[in-house]
Amino acid sequence: MPKCCEAFVLDIASGHPAIDRYLADGYEQVPGMSSRFAAAICGHLIHRQSALGISGDVVEIGTFEGRFFIAMALGLAADEKALGIDVFDWPDAGVLDRFLTNCETHGLFPDRFTASKANSRSISVEDLRRKLANRKSRFFHIDGNHSHESLSNDLALAHAVLHPQGIVCIDDMLHPGYPTLVTAVLDYLNQAPQMRVMCIIDREDIVAAAKFLICPADVVELYQTDLLTTFARFHFVLGADMVDYSTLVLTPTPRLAEIRSSKSPDARVERADGIGDAE
Ligand SMILES: C[S@@+](CC[C@H](N)C(=O)[O-])C[C@H]1O[C@@H](n2cnc3c(N)ncnc32)[C@H](O)[C@@H]1O
Repeated sequence: MPKCCEAFVLDIASGHPAIDRYLADGYEQVPGMSSRFAAAICGHLIHRQSALGISGDVVEIGTFEGRFFIAMALGLAADEKALGIDVFDWPDAGVLDRFLTNCETHGLFPDRFTASKANSRSISVEDLRRKLANRKSRFFHIDGNHSHESLSNDLALAHAVLHPQGIVCIDDMLHPGYPTLVTAVLDYLNQAPQMRVMCIIDREDIVAAAKFLICPADVVELYQTDLLTTFARFHFVLGADMVDYSTLVLTPTPRLAEIRSSKSPDARVERADGIGDAE
């Protein structure tokens, strides 16, 4: 891990004891691509949902060896379950066994989750409802195939089973390796105008990329107010321009570019990018 990242990686917690034990001692031992920064924020949101009485299952498409899945599932109440969907054939056929071993090693026991070996493109909404025994999902992480078609398919699945106050979390947004993937999210948001990007969790590095958190517009404030209070020191104060609204950005190292004005060279005018309205 780069030296610059160590301080904040060690210094963020979800507030949920089991998740935080795993983040401290297990998370980085489980191979995977999601950042610990994002896992702490998402773990906190799952903990917060429990406090608010928002109940339902956790679903992940693209479970891989379980790094992010375990963090989410450890936050569930006794009557909730986690569902992990993956083709489980990449990079080799042993990945399912490694996933199951990782779950057990980190305290996620078989009665708490289901591993479903499937291509998400072949899962219908009815199939997914059956897998969830008709329960709603309160937190749905999408991190499977990164084509426009697959992400559109996975967003439709998530939308169909989402709790009315639930959150869809999408990985690898604005990733340099998938620059057009975000268009699937924009298409989805056009078709589902009641949904909003509630928060953007910035990346740690090129592997642990940014995540979008999406939820119904009427619960945006419920989540944002809490995130702003809990994670104030990670707040990028300029926020994100979503054209019709501005949304919350949390970043491991918040900072603004320091720009010297030619009119008053001693005055420092802070802008992030110089593109927005100048002060
Ligand atoms: C980037 S990895 C997921 C990393 C994991 N979520 C984490 O945070 O560590 C992507 C996973 O998606 C799975 N995958 C790719 N296409 C899929 C599909 N169409 N349906 C289900 N899983 C898929 C791959 O097998 C792989 O395990």
